Amino acid sequence: MDMESAYREAITLDGQDELSSYRSRFFSGDEKLIYLDGNSLGRLPVESKAILEHSVNHEWGERLIRSWNEDWFTKNIELGDKIAAIAGASDGEVIITDTTSVNLYKLAHAALKFQTGRRRIVTDDLNFPSDLYILQGLVKEFGEGYELAVVSSRDGMTIDPGDLKAIIDEKTALVSLSHVAFKSAFRYNMKEVTALAHEKGAMILWDLSHSIGAVPGELNQSDADLAVGCTYKYLNGGPGSPAFLYVRKDLQDKLTSPIWGWFGEKNPFDFELKYRPGEGIKRFLAGTPPILSLKTIEPTLDMMNEAGMTLIRQKSVSQSEFLLRLAEEFLRPLGFRYGSPADPEKRGSHVSLRHPEAYRICKALIDPDVGETVVIPDFRDPDNIRLGITPLYTTYLEIFIAVREIRDIVENKLYLKYSAEREQVT
Ligand SMILES: Cc1ncc(COP(=O)(O)O)c(C=O)c1O
Repeated sequence: MDMESAYREAITLDGQDELSSYRSRFFSGDEKLIYLDGNSLGRLPVESKAILEHSVNHEWGERLIRSWNEDWFTKNIELGDKIAAIAGASDGEVIITDTTSVNLYKLAHAALKFQTGRRRIVTDDLNFPSDLYILQGLVKEFGEGYELAVVSSRDGMTIDPGDLKAIIDEKTALVSLSHVAFKSAFRYNMKEVTALAHEKGAMILWDLSHSIGAVPGELNQSDADLAVGCTYKYLNGGPGSPAFLYVRKDLQDKLTSPIWGWFGEKNPFDFELKYRPGEGIKRFLAGTPPILSLKTIEPTLDMMNEAGMTLIRQKSVSQSEFLLRLAEEFLRPLGFRYGSPADPEKRGSHVSLRHPEAYRICKALIDPDVGETVVIPDFRDPDNIRLGITPLYTTYLEIFIAVREIRDIVENKLYLKYSAEREQVT
């Protein structure tokens, strides 16, 4: 394959794309900008802008407190059901609330309390650091005899299910894992790993932050116990939009949230002085939901439920495979290595390419004075360039141009003029 034939293939594939109409439903301040970071902060849906304006001007500005009864009070449940539809869960099993970290704390705490006599938590070293911190904190909080067993990746990219199986034992209370790993995009087989945990009587808590809206959900099909995830990546909720949590229906009344806030109470507006846990999933709420940043999640959920996760996943795999073919042809000869599994079954929806100069290459890609256009990927230490595929708005042509820009930057050593000193947010 040469650049010309790769370009023609990109144009043909874009012409055949069944999801192409969704791109115009996202705001673009710069038509030429190539945004491959939707796995970190998703683009802004045009409808979310309108919703925000309406919510600020009409609901808050004019209707004021009346809006709680007119629209706001049940929004986190309604949108939770829409998330459930793409996560493979049922109505009433998902609710939007708090941050992923706080939700992980609440559910892991609830699981540890429920699993009396079991004191081991199992996780892996590909998991997101915040998750590891929360689990470390819980071990310290629960004290005597509690331990965190961390399975190590053998290749820095994947986890061998055999290594997990060996460490989950009859003392294990909880297995807590990211469904898709944030750096390598390694994806666990949810059904298989959930069964491994259940075989030994352990509960499982999945972090879906990098898989929700990117791969079809399998929570009920896998009989998963608990899950959390964020809404600002593939769900395009906006910076700091609230996260979600899932508790399988039969567990909801058996588990207790460690934070007894009024929104988790049976009826907050009874103002009862003694806490009574709310019904079902609501008992995992704590305080007032952030209405403005919650409402911006809805347009993407509607788009996803309309397009269907099967088609979204098909395009994600096809685009990732196209990207990997281009990388093999044009980037591997320049010193790039793969930071993501080759098998699409074991991958989420981003691809990591590794290069010793990854950080400075990212700087050059983002610099408007370099190349034909700005390309925004992201960088993860020590040497990963993460390229996020977001099927609702990524085009094949963008993938082609991004690879060509990376090649030009490396071939001509254009990265040399940038400092390797890291910025605060990478
Ligand atoms: C896999 C994963 N888990 C947890 C978090 C933390 O989310 P939050 O900031 O909502 O607590 C992130 C953030 O990017 C993440 O990628």
